[in-house]
Amino acid sequence: MSIKDMVLEHLENNKGIYISGGDLAKSLDVSRNSIWKAIKSLERDGYLIEAIPNRGYCLSESNDILSAQSIAKYCKHPFEIEVYETVSSTNTLLKEKAENGANHGTVILAKEQTSGRGRMGKEFYSPSNTGIYLSILLRPDFSASESLFLTTAAAVATARAIEDASGKAADIKWVNDIYIDGKKVCGILTEASLNIETNHLDYAVVGIGINICAPSEEFPKELQSIATAVFDNPSDSQNKQSLLVANLLNYFMDYYNDFRSKKYVDEYIRRSFILGKEIYVLEGNTQWEATALEIDRDCRLKVRFTDGHEKWLSSGEVSTKIIN
Ligand code: BTN
Repeated sequence: MSIKDMVLEHLENNKGIYISGGDLAKSLDVSRNSIWKAIKSLERDGYLIEAIPNRGYCLSESNDILSAQSIAKYCKHPFEIEVYETVSSTNTLLKEKAENGANHGTVILAKEQTSGRGRMGKEFYSPSNTGIYLSILLRPDFSASESLFLTTAAAVATARAIEDASGKAADIKWVNDIYIDGKKVCGILTEASLNIETNHLDYAVVGIGINICAPSEEFPKELQSIATAVFDNPSDSQNKQSLLVANLLNYFMDYYNDFRSKKYVDEYIRRSFILGKEIYVLEGNTQWEATALEIDRDCRLKVRFTDGHEKWLSSGEVSTKIIN
């Protein structure tokens, strides 16, 4: 870790509390001059640092920059977090890192994606500073079929974290969209690399995109009637994003480390608002009308088509759309 990162970690962990340059230098085992340089560099990056002679430095309570350090201080599992202003796609970047040996628990978060990707080859709208786009790298030690739970566990973890942060009820639309008041607030895309010999995954990347606030120029026309955001106003999100991300990561890792107990499934079913509704089942370019009947312990969805025949659907290449 660089001296600048260590100083930021220290300031974040003691937000609102003054620490002298000398004490900082001593506890990080570096010179006072390098502490001063790190503080100046953080200020240039926009960090609000108060400095008072004889008292030292303090990260202002109103500082609200999302950083690896601001998230890690709330995390109870070991993550390696990297935060970027803008990337093409956090999933794409993390898959490249996975191929190059990145560790289980690596998390990439960006404040903007220029080529955000959704399910079924769709684009995922990822404007700057109004959303959180993150991907988690996992190196699961279980079979490919068992790995299907990653997406549904991520949906429950994200719904809980959104609800904690906003107080708004977060529902799940099978299989992996999060909704608030009938509009989509988050999408999840899980991608994996299969080792054919062992039928285990070499790695999986769980990508989660959350609309934190409505973009200042509003959602694009095609999204206006179907998209929403966690917070109604940007000021409501003040100092809430780091904890939201950390809670999401903590909940998800709790489920991951204990996945065979399927603890999250009851909550997945409870949050699913599709049951009993008339839906379209979408597969490629084809769609069929059906009624959503039931979700089982593997989070498969049972539907009844209009000709009366019933079928269990797994996530795969199928998605659903509610008929209004
Ligand atoms: C969907 O709604 O179809 C899934 C959207 C998934 C978007 C997230 S944002 C972070 C990660 N990077 C991507 O390019 N996509 C996922």
